[in-house]
Amino acid sequence: MLRTENLTAGYGAGTILEDITFQIEKGERFVVLGESGCGKSTLMKAIVGLNPPLSGKIFFHEEEIIHPMPENSDFYKKIGILYQNSALLNSLTLEENIMLPITMHYPDFSKKTARDIADEKLAMVNLYKDREKFPQELSGGMKKRGALARALVLDPDIIFFDEPQAGLDPVTARDLDMLFIKLNEQLGTTYFIVTHELLSIKRTAQKVLMLADKHVLFSGTFDGAMASEIFKVQRFFNVDKYSKNRL
Ligand SMILES: Nc1ncnc2c1ncn2[C@@H]1O[C@H](COP(=O)(O)OP(=O)(O)OP(=O)(O)O)[C@@H](O)[C@H]1O
Ligand SMILES: [Mg+2]
Repeated sequence: MLRTENLTAGYGAGTILEDITFQIEKGERFVVLGESGCGKSTLMKAIVGLNPPLSGKIFFHEEEIIHPMPENSDFYKKIGILYQNSALLNSLTLEENIMLPITMHYPDFSKKTARDIADEKLAMVNLYKDREKFPQELSGGMKKRGALARALVLDPDIIFFDEPQAGLDPVTARDLDMLFIKLNEQLGTTYFIVTHELLSIKRTAQKVLMLADKHVLFSGTFDGAMASEIFKVQRFFNVDKYSKNRL
């Protein structure tokens, strides 16, 4: 469904990532992990076009994606993005926020149709009864679920999440992980999740891509990562055992 070839990314001077090659199959929960600052968000931004790659190739359904892509392109209809801060618009109700991608990409749809689709997605994330509320009236976890409903609203093939559990308590974070798994199984949507939360990785990851020193350190199944003999991979999953003298 999505693959990259020798992707290099960075911000002006110097590179942050080099030679990043991986592929994601349809319906997979693919988790990008690694220590803070290793370039996880940079990779996601390169793929979705927020900070286009410096070199290398991106293929989506075997079609090459060359950024910048026009905002109304099919690519943006087929992907959903959940930003770290949820990024719901404060002047709109939750329901209006969820309707926004529909009215933007499908201007011919009636308001009722857009509302019905939005409400269906809000029900999926258990926020239907809160649809009239404004973002500032929602808790952090509710905002994340609202942003998830918005990311889902066009029935995307793949959803990109950057640190979905950041700032959530362990119970809410677990609920969100379980919701990802449920929706992934129900809808068959592919998930690209950036995170460094160990518990969340253990719950959700099927395949993992671990980044370190600008490169891919490990790519494979979650079980393969757990069994890996690469020191930095072992240390990531067993911090207390290997990192006694750090800081
Ligand atoms: N807009 C930017 N301009 C310049 N450098 C940036 C920018 N965003 C990130 N960087 C740099 O790129 C490197 C990787 O950052 P990135 O945000 O991709 O890390 P990360 O793996 O997502 O970390 P975290 O787990 O803390 O979110 C860091 O050295 C950071 O300083
Ligand atoms: Mg990040």
